[in-house]
Amino acid sequence: MTTRIGILISGRGSNMLALAGAMREGRLPGVEIALVVSDHADAAGLQRAREIGLKTAVVERAGRTREAHDRAIVAELQTHQVEIVCLAGYMRLLSKYFIDTYRNRILNIHPSLLPAFPGLDAHRQVIEHGVKWTGCTVHFVDESLDGGPIIGQRVVPVLDDDTEETLAARILEQEHELYAEALALVVSGRYEIHGRRVIRKS
Ligand code: GRF
Repeated sequence: MTTRIGILISGRGSNMLALAGAMREGRLPGVEIALVVSDHADAAGLQRAREIGLKTAVVERAGRTREAHDRAIVAELQTHQVEIVCLAGYMRLLSKYFIDTYRNRILNIHPSLLPAFPGLDAHRQVIEHGVKWTGCTVHFVDESLDGGPIIGQRVVPVLDDDTEETLAARILEQEHELYAEALALVVSGRYEIHGRRVIRKS
């Protein structure tokens, strides 16, 4: 039995490629990428996805309401029998319809140690705030902004001479490993959600 995942991107797609790489290397046994969806036809990640043989779909907003757009995306995902959705640099908030349809089966990756620094420009927020440690978080998506139950985190130092770019690169390396690990846990089903807590079952 394979678990079919859908990956939503808006841009470069390095986390999507990292998940594909983890599958190739056997770090995500029983997981298959059924579809990569982008809300932008010119997302660099789309071309990369096609190059490695993944199925892709472009579902642009095209002036529709958030829910109408999401209904079109969900229809694509369902056509491809997607069971778990991974947001990987997908730059739009999801509607309640989308979240309800895939409740507790949507994952997101965010480049900070949530609940610190949610939202846009996390790296800039981190540097401006002056924290010494940051990292990345994979969490379930609920109606809150970057606020759903946390599946996994990785920590990285903030160095005195960091720019947004150097910090982002250090975090991104960890994102690529963390996302595969967190997805493996979710696919294994060896966890329970207690309130906000994701607890591993042995
Ligand atoms: C990553 O930093 C991710 O944490 C954030 O958006 C960025 C996407 O990068 N949500 P990529 O498109 O996966 O390369």
